[in-house]
Amino acid sequence: MKYDPITNSLFIKNRQNFTNKLDKNSVAFFNSNDIYPISADSVLPFEQHRDIFYLCGIDQEESILVLFPDSINPDYREIIFLKETNEHIIHWEGEKLTKNEATKISGIKSIHWLGEFEKILNDILKEVEHVYINTNEHYRQKVETQTREDRFVEKLKKFGGLNFKKSNPILQYQRSVKDEIELALIKQACEITKKGFERVLRFVKPGVWEYEIEAEFSHEFLKNRSKRFAYTPIIASGKNSNYLHYIMNNKQCQSGEIVLMDVGAEYANYSSDMTRTIPVNGKFSNRQKAVYNAVLNVKNEATKLLRPGILWKDYHVEVGKIMTSELLKIKLLSKSDIQNQTSKNPAYKKYFSHGTSHHLGLDTHDYCDLKIPFEKNNVLTVEPGIYIMDEGFGIRLEDDVVINNSGDPTNLMGDIPIEIDEIESIMN
Ligand code: GLY
Ligand code: MN
Ligand code: MN
Repeated sequence: MKYDPITNSLFIKNRQNFTNKLDKNSVAFFNSNDIYPISADSVLPFEQHRDIFYLCGIDQEESILVLFPDSINPDYREIIFLKETNEHIIHWEGEKLTKNEATKISGIKSIHWLGEFEKILNDILKEVEHVYINTNEHYRQKVETQTREDRFVEKLKKFGGLNFKKSNPILQYQRSVKDEIELALIKQACEITKKGFERVLRFVKPGVWEYEIEAEFSHEFLKNRSKRFAYTPIIASGKNSNYLHYIMNNKQCQSGEIVLMDVGAEYANYSSDMTRTIPVNGKFSNRQKAVYNAVLNVKNEATKLLRPGILWKDYHVEVGKIMTSELLKIKLLSKSDIQNQTSKNPAYKKYFSHGTSHHLGLDTHDYCDLKIPFEKNNVLTVEPGIYIMDEGFGIRLEDDVVINNSGDPTNLMGDIPIEIDEIESIMN
């Protein structure tokens, strides 16, 4: 792993909070992700399933976590199953986790090789009343791929006579409220993103290609122990800035255009998610400035609304009102547009069609229960944008913030340049 070791008190606490929510005499299983194939013998880099990582910190393929807190056998209360290494694996891939290392990372004493899994699984299934399976219930999930976890659930279903429950609703809520250690890891990801952006501010000039900007970020991320972008980066100059999920990053940037960069580093599997929009030649035009400041005002005002007790849905209605007032000021909307709007189809949607905020953490669009009001230590993005097809450009700004009881959120990206003067002065 490129990241520094994480103190295992985080994982011990996460397991404690999770198992406190299980029914009596229950077992829960968590599987690693597959290593996904490309073709022939090539594979994508391994990405650990975020739930098993969250509960034990083990970042290795084929691992299984079993939580059976009421087991009469102390060895079965918490178990990690690991792939057992051999000379061949060591020769080709290097060291795999030892049992001692897995204990150190996770705080779990009972570590077994995978070869023992079937026997112990049979023992446990004879004893338990409920089996918690881990299904993907995220509000935006549209995954068609059958995961290792899905295959395991199918296997369990063949046992017959088991009483299934779902882990995911517990984790959706639990993972949305961050521990201080998690906040520090997300902050670290934001710091790395900041370094990338500062590098890019000095790099961008007319004639650079979008992929060259991507490369500058990538350089800074890797140098700072981030293994990769937290999500596929969007480097969108000129009219590309109107395409919300543009990821081709293959156009040359021209003087007079802006370039929208929606880029974040991961660190220790935690995401950061930043958007900055800058002028290719180092100076915004007056029109670009007007739209930029409208977006910045919405971002600043929306951030103030993020406080405990507010519902995600109500927050979005309020942000819509702020956006409407900014769009009126820059004359993209008229009074008659407002008179003709309906609550289902507000006028501002013509220029701002996506959500303002999502939870952020081990997933960029992180777990949460949107029916529960915001609370302390939720981490959310704030990312308004105004996209003007007719004028050939769009502007989005995005920061990551932590909700506080005081009502004043902590902006984890508060020190990443965003004001027009700052941006122009660094670029020049
Ligand atoms: N970069 C993905 C998002 O902003 O939601
Ligand atoms: Mn983003
Ligand atoms: Mn985002």
